[in-house]
Amino acid sequence: MTSPTPQDATAEALIAPPVDPETWCTPAQYGELYAASLRDPDGFWALQADRIDWSAKPTRINRSSFDPVDIRWYEDGELNLCFNCVDRHVFAGHGGDTALIWEGDTPGDVRSLTYDDLLREVQAMAGALKTLGAQKGDRVTIYMPMVLEGAIAMLACARIGAVHSVVFGGFSPEALAGRIEDCASRFIVTADAGMRGGKTVPLKANVDAALEQHGIDVEAVLVVRHTGSDVTMTEGRDHWYRDVAATVPATCPCEPMGAEDPLFILYTSGSTGKPKGVLHTTGGYAVWVATTFHYAFDYRPGEVYWCTADIGWVTGHSYSVYGPLLNRATSLLFEGVPNYPDHSRFWDMCERHGVNIFYTAPTAIRALMREGDAPVERHDLSALRLIGSVGEPINPEAWRWYHRVVGKGQTPVIDTWWQTETGGIMITTLPYAHAMRPGSAGLPFFGIDPELVDADGNILDGATEGNLCIAASWPGQARTVYGDHDRFVQTYFSTYKGKYFTGDGCKRDEDGYYRITGRVDDVINVSGHRMGTAEVESALVLHPRVAEAAVVGFPHDIKGQGIYCYVTLNVGEEADDALTAELKALVRKEIGPIATPDHLHFTPALPKTRSGKIMRRILRKIAENDVGALGDTSTLADPAVVDALIAGRRVV
Ligand code: WT7
Repeated sequence: MTSPTPQDATAEALIAPPVDPETWCTPAQYGELYAASLRDPDGFWALQADRIDWSAKPTRINRSSFDPVDIRWYEDGELNLCFNCVDRHVFAGHGGDTALIWEGDTPGDVRSLTYDDLLREVQAMAGALKTLGAQKGDRVTIYMPMVLEGAIAMLACARIGAVHSVVFGGFSPEALAGRIEDCASRFIVTADAGMRGGKTVPLKANVDAALEQHGIDVEAVLVVRHTGSDVTMTEGRDHWYRDVAATVPATCPCEPMGAEDPLFILYTSGSTGKPKGVLHTTGGYAVWVATTFHYAFDYRPGEVYWCTADIGWVTGHSYSVYGPLLNRATSLLFEGVPNYPDHSRFWDMCERHGVNIFYTAPTAIRALMREGDAPVERHDLSALRLIGSVGEPINPEAWRWYHRVVGKGQTPVIDTWWQTETGGIMITTLPYAHAMRPGSAGLPFFGIDPELVDADGNILDGATEGNLCIAASWPGQARTVYGDHDRFVQTYFSTYKGKYFTGDGCKRDEDGYYRITGRVDDVINVSGHRMGTAEVESALVLHPRVAEAAVVGFPHDIKGQGIYCYVTLNVGEEADDALTAELKALVRKEIGPIATPDHLHFTPALPKTRSGKIMRRILRKIAENDVGALGDTSTLADPAVVDALIAGRRVV
């Protein structure tokens, strides 16, 4: 298996960007704006704040500190994000412009909403949530397929000041229950079911299972009719969305929100413990996603923009919903998957919808690249002007294929590095301002001061490699971990005091381009989905025959990383096919199908130090089949364990 991770992308030649006189940002403008953004951040971000209509304009711009950790932007400003995404465009006379286009799992199943329509729909959803009792500050869990009502529910929460927590529809009832309980959410918006690749995902049944198996009492479950699947409705708790919406007034006012009032919680995995509820607030997030969308995608009025991410991930929040709508864009939402009904689905949709800007993940690019050029070439992609990548490192080979075959060697490619915690794009080349280097994300966005540090926290200069930190706050930064500020401080600001530590390793080349080399913690990235190895381990050890488990990532040529699990069984137990199947099913049940182990390696013992710490470095090397480079094994309590592991390396 070859590694999709770029080995030495810094050796890749720069590719000149296309020239476009219409661009928002020329090379000279980038230089000036970037310098200004670091020289006078308050001045720069006061100016960018004009992208937003404030009911009270902020006068205090940045009041953030990393030591102690207290992040605040625009704190005396007041706004409503839904108003900014929807109402103001209608008031400005753009109500007839298309806001959202939706295509279902079945090709050609299309619905679109103008900004007028969206305003009507959002008010209905907001009214329905209010009727059921949701108020400013309440947490609302959104567990939806990729349908218009998912985006509408997010905007409706923002409208009434409720805090949304979107849980990806691919997560299991167990994972959903944990997320509902963690933020004490009393309202759930879901659908009867979703469709993905011709298969039905029983969302409402999953909600029922989550609530019942965990004895969770919620105020209300609002159910959107989507597939028409049979569902059980619990009297007094469950309500059909259309029935409630039919009873509410046509208008629903926007709640004025303080800039630092919470906007949403999004759960993401870390190296230890349960997923963390990353909290984003209103004003800074709005300015950040509006500004990054504007410059990174260089969006122009009337264009059709398509980000293939699900709203269950931060990419869907920032670049399917909030970023595009703040910029009055037309954003395409897609319910299905890239390979259904066949491998030309993306390109078929690009052609039919006249997509101008396309943003997807390396895992999809690699999977489609494997199918060859023909599925792409069958379609007219002449409308495509800019293509982007996000979620994991893109290997130069996949980058070049994307550029040559999808972009016809003409369009800029942007490789955008960011994280759930950063709210929006942090490192990317700008499409017409910068030369591109396959495999490197590129240059810092305005206001971002990346630092590469060594293990001791020394700042490294020039072309170098180190751990990626960000020196100072930016408006879109997460403010805390919901309900656990200590964990926020501990996770991001304690490794290198006074800096935000991203968890990523990174190289900087002579041109100042940044190339992310991957996570340096116990987080793995499987098909762009972030996963804590500890979460998978916790699921495996729930099995009564399992004594211990250690999980690592290994290079996977489509998924980026796969999940390799070392499992030791209780004394007297023997591994068999039935156990393998049970363990895979257990992980799916506890987390979801995205966490299904690729390899299970049963072993009598794990390599441990004399103090009992598992040496993961060795496990990673064996999983990568790089057994010639195990490094120092002298601190192991029993070095013979390693030979047994190497001998037992097998693919189950
Ligand atoms: C982690 C964040 C960004 C939104 C989707 C994922 C990796 C993300 C890139 C990129 C190399 C990337 C990093 C990061 N990552 N984008 N362009 N090049 N690596 O958000 O689930 O919070 O994951 O994804 O390792 O830390 P997330």
